[in-house]
Amino acid sequence: MGINILSTGCYTPKLKITNDDLATIIDTNDEWISSRTGISSRRFSDGEPTWYMGTMAAKQAIEKAGIDPLDIGLILDSTVSGDFFTPSTGCIIQREIGAKNAAAFDISAACSGFVYSLDIAHRYFLTDPDLKYILVVANENLSYITDFTDRASCILFADGAAAVVLERSDDMFSSWIGSDGCGMKYLYAKIGQVPNPFEKDGDYPPDDTEPDAPVGVLVQNGKEVYKFAVKAMPTAVNKVLDKLHLTIDDIDIMIPHQANIRIIETAAKNLKLPMEKIFTTIDHTGNTSSASIPIALHEAVTAGAVKKGMTVCVVGFGAGLTMGAAIFKY
Ligand code: UT7
Repeated sequence: MGINILSTGCYTPKLKITNDDLATIIDTNDEWISSRTGISSRRFSDGEPTWYMGTMAAKQAIEKAGIDPLDIGLILDSTVSGDFFTPSTGCIIQREIGAKNAAAFDISAACSGFVYSLDIAHRYFLTDPDLKYILVVANENLSYITDFTDRASCILFADGAAAVVLERSDDMFSSWIGSDGCGMKYLYAKIGQVPNPFEKDGDYPPDDTEPDAPVGVLVQNGKEVYKFAVKAMPTAVNKVLDKLHLTIDDIDIMIPHQANIRIIETAAKNLKLPMEKIFTTIDHTGNTSSASIPIALHEAVTAGAVKKGMTVCVVGFGAGLTMGAAIFKY
């Protein structure tokens, strides 16, 4: 049993921020950002809450699918930058779209969130024969939690949302998700002045190797995340290929997490997958965490780069650390 992506939807905030704009608030320049990351511009929310962006993407996907929101049995919302501690963004979106018969909850797997959602959705379809449609939304307001005094990280992050409507299919599907909590220290955002569980596993209070780390914003060791990413992506892709006894040549198009063009190029080289088979949006979207893969999928479908019958691979990595991949027929 597989999953069919009935439709995609997307919400991109109107506020466009170029590299030159960032250079007016931090010591950076367009040449450095473009050559090190592949990013030329990104979008920031101009006050739109996370739930609003997710709702707009969800409404577009539902309208394109032509389904009744009452037939949605499950809403999976992926975010690390919601507007409320509780309720979940998924519940807010359920209210906004009138999906009264759906259960809704959020998934916190950072940039791997969309892949985690596909994995969960597939398992729900397998175990609940009454489930007709699942709505997967990924919405991020990373500008809420970006440290705009840290030039090595703030040039990466951006805002946006995308959604897909899923139904069961008879086509192939495979997914794999993984985590490495030992790598949490390389990318995190603290809620308050809490100690980091970094050094003494199992002891309390734990050693806090970075007691002065800023609170409420993303703290990143870019080099370590980079090293993790270029290994994690091939690992995840090979896991899902192996499950289906496929080879890399069977993939028609890959849609990776849009974090850094150099990470994508290195992972592609390691996988021996030509860049022509990889769809990227990073130049104009930046890194929108879990929204980056479905935004790119939406753009790929809209541009005709993903067509019915194609074998699509999505792959992500992110804070946690987390990683995952999925293969499906579009
Ligand atoms: O969704 C997952 C999210 N995270 C990632 O994917 C992050 C993965 N890592 C990366 O993408 C890269 O590590 C970065 C783009 C974050 C940084 O690139 P890098 O090549 O690893 O640069 P670096 O941190 O080693 O810095 C090199 C130099 C330093 O100067 P010195 O010490 O060599 O004089 C930095 O101070 O570049 C400097 N630098 C900058 N210069 C201009 C750092 N940020 C900037 C900047 N503009 N924005």
